[in-house]
Amino acid sequence: MGRISKIILGTVLFIILFYGILALLPPKKITYMDDHTLRAYALSHGLAPVPESRAAILKATYNPDNPVTDAKVALGQKLFFDPILSRDNTISCASCHILEEGGDDNLPTAIGYHGRANPRHLNSPTVLNAALAKREFWDGRAKDVEEQAGGPIQAPFEMNLTPKEAEERIRTNPEYARSFKAIFEDGVTFANIRKAIGAYERTLLTRGPYDRFLEGDDNAISIAAKRGMNLFIQKGCKGCHTGMSVGGQSIQQFPLRRSVGDLFRTEPFPFPNTGGFLGKDGMKKFRVPILRNITKTAPYFHNGAVQDLKEAIRIMSRYQIGVEFTPEQISDVEAFFKTLEGDLVPFRLQPKAGEDFHGRDLSGMDLRFRDLHGINLKGADLSDADLFGANLSGANLTGAKVSGANFTSADLSYASLSYVDLRNVDLIEVKLEGINLEHAIWRDGRECAKGSFGKCL
Ligand code: HEC
Ligand code: HEC
Repeated sequence: MGRISKIILGTVLFIILFYGILALLPPKKITYMDDHTLRAYALSHGLAPVPESRAAILKATYNPDNPVTDAKVALGQKLFFDPILSRDNTISCASCHILEEGGDDNLPTAIGYHGRANPRHLNSPTVLNAALAKREFWDGRAKDVEEQAGGPIQAPFEMNLTPKEAEERIRTNPEYARSFKAIFEDGVTFANIRKAIGAYERTLLTRGPYDRFLEGDDNAISIAAKRGMNLFIQKGCKGCHTGMSVGGQSIQQFPLRRSVGDLFRTEPFPFPNTGGFLGKDGMKKFRVPILRNITKTAPYFHNGAVQDLKEAIRIMSRYQIGVEFTPEQISDVEAFFKTLEGDLVPFRLQPKAGEDFHGRDLSGMDLRFRDLHGINLKGADLSDADLFGANLSGANLTGAKVSGANFTSADLSYASLSYVDLRNVDLIEVKLEGINLEHAIWRDGRECAKGSFGKCL
């Protein structure tokens, strides 16, 4: 036998032996962590709940180039649902990103302008929580939701308008023209259209049982879901699907691992290569998908080739971590995924007269001229809120945080402001008849004595 043949034979034998031994080794046992340990582990390894408070949401999705304001969000929301940005006025962002159905269209590939399918047979990802991702699109080619929003408006198979045409449409619509002028210094521009839509997308975060579990509620998720979460964390899924959005943080190879059985595979993916898309630079690299609401966003993978979530989990376990999950393990992971379903966080709370908003975060809100008489704002956070001209008569603001708030021209008659620190607050021309200021700290730092009912004024 020649030297070369010996080397080849030796190599082949080595490979067979190597994989043979691997196959014979008992699978690594996993030790399921108790609730407390599981939670602490998750939180210290990059997973995080979506916050509930407005201030925390703003922080989590902050983009210095596009600060979120209520007016901008409202404008972006209108644009998101308005077919005005498509050539034939039939398609809006919401046509392919249906918020009530997981933020996608439930189709294998997206269908846009004049029934045109995505030429690369790409599946619509969810817009829910997309603002939390580090890159956007399957190949990560856009850096944030603002940049992303320019894509579909122009794509001939989506909305099919040039930036000039889009600007023209918005500029000639008096209502839009007025809003853009009020919100942006430079009025209607394509960049500002993208910014308004982006600002709205930054409020599309969802919260569900998984978040409540991470925040300390042991009963928020089932025992099966906890087993699934253990697997997800300990088997390495969370290495890629991480962050507050459970994905979206990096671009990764897929498939990553191959076993002996795949040695002669010529297909690039473990499912039909419909559309022929090969990811970033054609290197089979993909922006890791966001797994929040995954149970609602079938079909799966970049070309929507897999309908069944269990099959998607099986493929991931085999090709990304190299250990195929058993059917029981797959069910547990699916139970965990169910806990990633969530409802939109109420970013734009709408406080109303007579309602109970005690303890809520209304910081920075624009509440000018609102009728809020009799509202319960006990312990609520109203820091930096604008309450110019608001009717707060009879409202309960006991212990509310009001630092930086503007109460100019508001009606505070018969409202209770006991224990409220008013040192850093605008109270010009407010109606104060019958106001209760027990233990409140007045603007000069004096505490209003018990029973003084306005004696500090
Ligand atoms: C015809 C269907 C269709 C329309 C209309 C559409 N999209 Fe999409 N959207 C898709 C598809 C398909 C992708 C993935 C494309 C890719 O990766 O190349 C996508 C990707 C996205 C993403 C990236 C999500 C992620 O996690 O990577 C966001 C965000 C998004 N769209 C928002 C929007 C907005 C905003 C609009 C309106 C301006 C819009 N879409 C209009 C189908 C559509
Ligand atoms: C090395 C990184 C990596 C690891 C580890 C990983 N994934 Fe993925 N996952 C990806 C990428 C990349 C995709 C997108 C592949 C595609 O669409 O072609 C994906 C897609 C998915 C999808 C489909 C998402 C969708 O919206 O279509 C699911 C479900 C999923 N992974 C679950 C898991 C589970 C469960 C594990 C652990 C067994 C896991 N992943 C481990 C990178 C990873």
